[in-house]
Amino acid sequence: MEVQGSGAEESRSGHRFCGTTRPWTGLIVTLLLSVWSAQGLEMSTGKVPFMEALNGSTVLLPCTYASCIGIKNLYFSWQYNDNGTMQKVCESVIPYDGMEPHPVNIFRSRVEFVGNSDPKNVNNISILIWNITFDDAGEYTCFGRNPKEKGKNHSAIFTLVVVDELRVVDNTLTIIIASAVGGAIALLMTFMLVKNFILFVLFKIEEKKKIECLVTSSAEETNNVSGSKASKPTTPKKK
Ligand SMILES: *[C@@H]1O[C@H](CO)[C@@H](O)[C@H](O)[C@H]1NC(C)=O
Ligand SMILES: *[C@@H]1O[C@H](CO)[C@@H](O)[C@H](O)[C@H]1NC(C)=O
Ligand SMILES: *[C@@H]1O[C@H](CO)[C@@H](O)[C@H](O)[C@H]1NC(C)=O
Ligand SMILES: *[C@@H]1O[C@H](CO)[C@@H](O)[C@H](O)[C@H]1NC(C)=O
Ligand SMILES: *[C@@H]1O[C@H](CO)[C@@H](O)[C@H](O)[C@H]1NC(C)=O
Repeated sequence: MEVQGSGAEESRSGHRFCGTTRPWTGLIVTLLLSVWSAQGLEMSTGKVPFMEALNGSTVLLPCTYASCIGIKNLYFSWQYNDNGTMQKVCESVIPYDGMEPHPVNIFRSRVEFVGNSDPKNVNNISILIWNITFDDAGEYTCFGRNPKEKGKNHSAIFTLVVVDELRVVDNTLTIIIASAVGGAIALLMTFMLVKNFILFVLFKIEEKKKIECLVTSSAEETNNVSGSKASKPTTPKKK
């Protein structure tokens, strides 16, 4: 069981601790762990070792391994935890680092081995499950044993959840957000329209008033002007 713990720790950190890339805060822990599991094999099912997938879809169960002392005839397998009993899903042996496992034995239907050893030193032993059913849900253990470590077992667990529909909560939330945003925009547009209409009406009223005002005032003015202005130009028109 300590083996699983180390696997989980590794997948959480997402790094193999061969090197010195850890922050100083974890230095002591790292040193202790290094002493304990020095250059051992590490199995990892990724930073997020679970997945929720739709009934009928095809999923990738990720797993990688890393070893600082190198491997020789690394045995690996995937196992499905069927209510407590472990069923082999697939297994194979990798002769040396960077080599592909040659015959990969598959024991479960719709399973395909898609692992590979790419130049970036990611030793990928992932599998694909095609057209998943509800019976495929559960815990999958990625297991590895390097004979260089005298048969020490290492493993990491990936959990697959199979659902009938994508989460309703997300949909309702999306709808709520969408309608909220849409409603806000509609409200804003309505507000702008009403505002513009009111401004227009006000403008028209103002204009009308102004015209009336102009008419009346000009009428008054003309009346006044006829009196005052008539007198004005007459008086100072001396050059
Ligand atoms: C989900 O599985 C059920 C049977 O378990 C099947 O009848 C149904 O068609 C599946 N749905 C999809 C979307 O594949
Ligand atoms: C799983 O195991 C429990 C007891 O350990 C048993 O009651 C149950 O029926 C089992 N379920 C299946 C699907 O085998
Ligand atoms: C998965 O389902 C598709 C369509 O239903 C089918 O064509 C395909 O052969 C299936 N694949 C496997 C591996 O069962
Ligand atoms: C492993 O290989 C599969 C298929 O080639 C790919 O989808 C996946 O991303 C790879 N995983 C890593 C960690 O490189
Ligand atoms: C490792 O696992 C195998 C089964 O795969 C088991 O027989 C063996 O006792 C385990 N070794 C240790 C040290 O836990």
